[in-house]
Amino acid sequence: MPATKQKKTDVLIELAKRRGIFWPSYEIYGGVKGLLTLGNVGFEIKRRLENLWIKYFVYSRNFQIIESPVIGPRPVYVASGHETQFTDKALKCEKCCSVFRADHLLSEVGINVPEGASLEHIDELVAHNKVKCPNCGENFSKAFQWLLMFKTEIGVGDPGYLRPETAQGIFTEFKRLYVHSRSSLPLGVAQIGKVFRNEVSPRQGPIRLREFTIMEVEFFFDPETNTGPLDEKYLEETIPVLTAEDQEKGFSGLRSVKVRDAVEKGFFSNNWIPFFLVLTKSFLKALGIPDGSYRFREKLPSERAHYAKQLFDCEVLLESWGWTEVAGFAYRTDYDLSGHMRVSGEDMSVFISSTNKKVVPHVVEPSFGAERLLYALLEYSLKIEEDGRIYLSIPSYLSPFDVSVFPLLSKPDFIAKAKEVASYLSDFKVNFDDSGSIGRRYARADEIGIPFAVTIDHQTFSDDTVTLRFRDTKEQKRISIASLPTELARLLSTPKPLV
Ligand code: GLY
Repeated sequence: MPATKQKKTDVLIELAKRRGIFWPSYEIYGGVKGLLTLGNVGFEIKRRLENLWIKYFVYSRNFQIIESPVIGPRPVYVASGHETQFTDKALKCEKCCSVFRADHLLSEVGINVPEGASLEHIDELVAHNKVKCPNCGENFSKAFQWLLMFKTEIGVGDPGYLRPETAQGIFTEFKRLYVHSRSSLPLGVAQIGKVFRNEVSPRQGPIRLREFTIMEVEFFFDPETNTGPLDEKYLEETIPVLTAEDQEKGFSGLRSVKVRDAVEKGFFSNNWIPFFLVLTKSFLKALGIPDGSYRFREKLPSERAHYAKQLFDCEVLLESWGWTEVAGFAYRTDYDLSGHMRVSGEDMSVFISSTNKKVVPHVVEPSFGAERLLYALLEYSLKIEEDGRIYLSIPSYLSPFDVSVFPLLSKPDFIAKAKEVASYLSDFKVNFDDSGSIGRRYARADEIGIPFAVTIDHQTFSDDTVTLRFRDTKEQKRISIASLPTELARLLSTPKPLV
């Protein structure tokens, strides 16, 4: 089938395997659902995406960034509420013992499970609709809570969990982090790292993973004295919002909301939430995700994580998976710090001199899934042209290499000169390729999104100029080798955050 007629998802997944972006892990053992390996190209794009996130959500705000352990002792996840609350409802076949996520299984046979449905309600739906195991046709035992955390042992016999979010590694260290910020609020602490969720039966390929990277900020503030920024720049912005109220009325479209109006109406629990939504708007723009293809959906009370008083998901519209969560913005109140105070016995409150009061800081948390953003950015950058040309129009600063350097001909003098130019560009990540024809080399570079190509041709030997080719338009211009570093640095510069 010509590429133009295929689904973008299929073209992208084939390209991802073929060109070292990502693929399902452990295929030689039959594969394990929800685990993904990033190749040489995918690793680099993700690393650059993470660096851009750090620039927007850490450096621009002068936040701290830390790295805490992936394994935590059980009391951490008792205090955080995850041990009892971080569950999915599941059904197990009495005969073949297959386990299914209840809402997914029931929706596949046309039964809608309301968010927050109890175990008893699920049992009633199964019995009333005579739902049987799709694998062997037998009955299910009673619905049960499936813990989404991976349990492990620390040393001999001490129970622990692999973290389902990086957040707890920030909350548990709060006292020290507060001192590191000269004992003042507000305080933002970020972390990027792997998290683990033992999904019952993940079915959405690269979208629903059991191990993935989270990029999150825990932003601590005093809700009495600082409910958020009020500067004009961000109040004048508009953001696409789908409110809980709209959803309850059955509306599923987008409304462009002026932040000032929503703040004045008291729509947000505090102004830090819309502030981070506006920052996210500019981050998504920098990723090349166009307006109209993402929205901030307020989660209904029954859908909210156990720690959240208000929660927005940032959802991106994907061809195969529809509106897909790529980030969450939770008002976690003092839920986590208070939980750790209760279980550890440590005082996490701080003294606010302006009110002469001790308070347990409240938290707003912007939290992003790196692999989902990577997938979204790839899908939106994938271009399939009528003539079958496929390329990734990735923003230059996120592409897996800064520039290709090619000899026009695979002859020793051209290759030697090209190597000389490549080493002159040692401040950049260079894709050097001298195999096959120049046309094939351009096509290979375009497929993985390399934005620029420098080609050494006959003229180079007489005037030290090269051609600089632009991936999307295939246009070329002549440029002196000496001016390449400055020109490339200009072309590869990252946009600044809006706020
Ligand atoms: N910390 C964000 C989440 O658990 O999804």
